[in-house]
Amino acid sequence: MPNKAYKRHLVTAALPYANGPVHIGHLAGVYVPADIYVRYRRLKGEDVVFVCGSDEHGVPVTIRAEKEGITVQEVVDKYHNQIKKSFADFGIAFDIYSRTSNQIHHETSQEIFKKLIDNQTLISQNSAQYFDPIKEKFLADRYIVGECPVCHNPNAYGDQCEKCGSTLTPDMLINPRSALSEATPIKKDTSHWYLPLDKYEDWLKEWILENHKEDWKNNVYGQCKSWIDGGLQPRPMTRDLDWGIKVPLPDSEGKVLYVWFDAPIGYISATKEYFSPQTPGRGFKSVKSNDWETYWQSEDTKLVHFIGKDNIVFHCIIFPVILHAEGSYILPDNVPANEFLNLEGDKISTSRNWAVWLHEYLEAFPDKQDVLRYVLCANAPETKDNDFTWKDFQARNNNELVAVLGNFVNRAVTLTERNFESKIPELGELQTIDNQLISDLKEFPAKIGESIENYRFREALGYYLDLARVGNKYLQDNEPWKVIKEDKNRVATVLHLSLQIVANLAILGEPFLPHSAEKIRKMLNLNELAWNFGGKIDLLKPNAEIQNTGLLFEKIEDSVIEAQIQKLLDTKKNNEVAQATAKFKPMEQKEEITYDDFTKIDIRIATVLTAENVKGSKKLLKLSLDTGIDQRTVLSGIAEHFTPEQVVGKQVCVLINLAPRKMMGMESQGMVLLAENADGKLVFVTPTDLVSNGVVVK
Ligand code: MF3
Ligand code: ZN
Repeated sequence: MPNKAYKRHLVTAALPYANGPVHIGHLAGVYVPADIYVRYRRLKGEDVVFVCGSDEHGVPVTIRAEKEGITVQEVVDKYHNQIKKSFADFGIAFDIYSRTSNQIHHETSQEIFKKLIDNQTLISQNSAQYFDPIKEKFLADRYIVGECPVCHNPNAYGDQCEKCGSTLTPDMLINPRSALSEATPIKKDTSHWYLPLDKYEDWLKEWILENHKEDWKNNVYGQCKSWIDGGLQPRPMTRDLDWGIKVPLPDSEGKVLYVWFDAPIGYISATKEYFSPQTPGRGFKSVKSNDWETYWQSEDTKLVHFIGKDNIVFHCIIFPVILHAEGSYILPDNVPANEFLNLEGDKISTSRNWAVWLHEYLEAFPDKQDVLRYVLCANAPETKDNDFTWKDFQARNNNELVAVLGNFVNRAVTLTERNFESKIPELGELQTIDNQLISDLKEFPAKIGESIENYRFREALGYYLDLARVGNKYLQDNEPWKVIKEDKNRVATVLHLSLQIVANLAILGEPFLPHSAEKIRKMLNLNELAWNFGGKIDLLKPNAEIQNTGLLFEKIEDSVIEAQIQKLLDTKKNNEVAQATAKFKPMEQKEEITYDDFTKIDIRIATVLTAENVKGSKKLLKLSLDTGIDQRTVLSGIAEHFTPEQVVGKQVCVLINLAPRKMMGMESQGMVLLAENADGKLVFVTPTDLVSNGVVVK
């Protein structure tokens, strides 16, 4: 409910699948906004627990294991550790980052499942499911692929089409096939436990459509409404798989809980683990109670789920129905799901390697966590899909972080260093412009806070940067660098107030840019940190020392951005090659030769100096080549593929010791090497790096 009086906060961020590293899409959609929200609540001194962990079950994980040729356990260990580390390095301040393979999670999920059996919520039902006759396995969700009935993507999964985003069931696929063996599946009877969502339609209508019409985001509310209006069906909560949490009932061999049954329960298990006395180093940093039940089972806890839009139905409909039917748990107050972030105009995709991976970003930019946080928040897909481009990343860094925020902080600090021996100057008599500044400043904490509380993080960040703009304008209007010559006292006041603004930037910036905020606090020797200090001008005491520790942000050069763009272009090319290769049937390997046979062949690097059509021949181009050892003429049968202009200047490989041949009354002294594509297109074999003509290819 919008205005309920809450005493504490429980904040969850979607558990990432341990089937690959985290990328910028995850960050922009879920983890950056969740982290801003939590840091803000903590700064306000509120009681908050922030939980997350790896989602280690489900078919995406087992498919990854097959792809990488390692065991499922190896896959989840590898990615769990990698994800956990990269979140920590990036500064996502979870109270706990757990994992669903933990004992406590298995027990918690099984308990809740059993309770739903005992209170007869779940219904056992027989149905015919797709079965792979070769592998002798039932084909759950992503193990079955086929044509999407909506967009006709030939590789849609049994639960979802990644191309158009439609939620599917295996029966909706056209020409289904097994992802395990490519076999055409048969139908086989099996029994599963179903959650009868249809029975909860009225309850959901009231809870979401009536009670959350005002406070849930339009995209979230809209998706829920269309699900509910479309009529809800019972959904199976168990699967025939080997990997997952065992169904805790007799005669359930080979059956596990559906991943979307157990994963959200992971939020509960993670909270239990956080409060467990066995958990080493448990912080209880911002926590006032010390039992998990207070957070999950008291009506005065505000539960908020941060997720991406593909998770809406699970967090707004299925998980709440499970919790409601179980009976002891609270429901989310809000589920601020974001839309998707694209990358350079294309959908981010783990399988196509089309992503900026967090661990790779941190390697390339080890001290620029805040730049990425800034760009992802400023560009967050809050109401519609959005695009990340490296050019925009550079522009926002150079024009906003460097030119606005960094510049203001740097000017205030260096002017103080230069003119007041790094001591905070005294506040003198106030002029109108100073009073205006002070009253403008007062507005910021409430404005920024209100935007954060309403999940409008881009807006909040915009206000934050405005404060730095206010600071810059104040310096510009007062020109302390000029006034210093005639009125040092006036400059003292101007710098005193400027530094108070800098201190405010350190406090109000903590949720968005925690690393930079900390740097500013170090410069100012500002130790206390609380949101409620914001808006005030008594954060710094006159005569206290400050220290200039250098620029907060540095300009990012074109070459750095070009390298990142080149990396993506390489990925694109590799994907295209992989696609073409998948369609191409190469010829068999030729008869074996000896090394001596091979050394008889003399292939050299050469540059095409001139090229012309040969009169009377459609096929031949006459090329003159610089082979490094001489200049020679080669006749090449490529005139139907290339114009002379397309060839001149190219570096190519030439077989130079081929016996000369006469063609059209001319002598050809070698052969240019070409590769012929599946579609008959010819491609030169050209060096990818600098190499002299005459070099032997061996
Ligand atoms: N692993 C899921 C995904 O990446 C999200 C699970 S969220 C949870 O889409 F609530 F189920 F944990
Ligand atoms: Zn589709």
